[in-house]
Amino acid sequence: MERKVILTEDGSSTLYVSDIDECYHSTHGAVQESEHIFIKAALEHHASKRLSVLEVGFGTGLNALLTFRASQKYGLHVTYTGIEKYPLTLDEAKQLNYACTDQEREVFRCMHAAPFSVSGQLSSCFYFSKLCTDFLDISLPFEAYDIVYMDAFSPEKQPELWTQDSMKRLYDSMRIGGILTTYCAKGYVRRNLQSVGFVVERLPGPPGKREMLRATKR
Ligand SMILES: C[S@@+](CC[C@H](N)C(=O)[O-])C[C@H]1O[C@@H](n2cnc3c(N)ncnc32)[C@H](O)[C@@H]1O
Repeated sequence: MERKVILTEDGSSTLYVSDIDECYHSTHGAVQESEHIFIKAALEHHASKRLSVLEVGFGTGLNALLTFRASQKYGLHVTYTGIEKYPLTLDEAKQLNYACTDQEREVFRCMHAAPFSVSGQLSSCFYFSKLCTDFLDISLPFEAYDIVYMDAFSPEKQPELWTQDSMKRLYDSMRIGGILTTYCAKGYVRRNLQSVGFVVERLPGPPGKREMLRATKR
């Protein structure tokens, strides 16, 4: 996959994939978008301080780093699992400007350098693992996650990841009270989420995007 680092409007970097003409984040602001959709609408919205998080599409690791930052700020105990089919090289990860402190730079480096399928501890309250696999091939554990960041490429580019079947697999993998958020607000994605049992809200999106979705397993 041909990728290049570009800057978004909030000054944070993202990757552009020429093969599919798509960016990893909003060009209006990568950090701004991730904080809005995943940290504020999901992580900070969940009542528990002990959270198991699944990310579909680990990519640059931005959501993982912001989750680490939030875990430090709010005293959360987080177990984080990222699924990624096309991992970044260490060289690509080094070009991303997300880390703000020496501790974050080291955590971000460890996230990318970590071997796949091995759980590691990145702080007293942050456990991390990543799986190099296709989301469609993996067997997810039953009722294991409190939070799901659904951050695959868009349904136009990857319709197979947004089907009713994919949503059902995510639903089954989540605990009662679990929250899934996504930047995607397409009607059929919302209906697929509802059809497998989620209660779905349409929320205002980050700058440049009218709406996003939050799905809760009641
Ligand atoms: C929109 S990008 C977002 C990445 C990441 N969340 C971030 O903040 O950088 C989508 C990610 O999904 C990954 N991906 C695409 N197809 C996948 C699949 N079938 N299984 C797992 N990951 C996939 C891509 O490689 C890419 O990293």
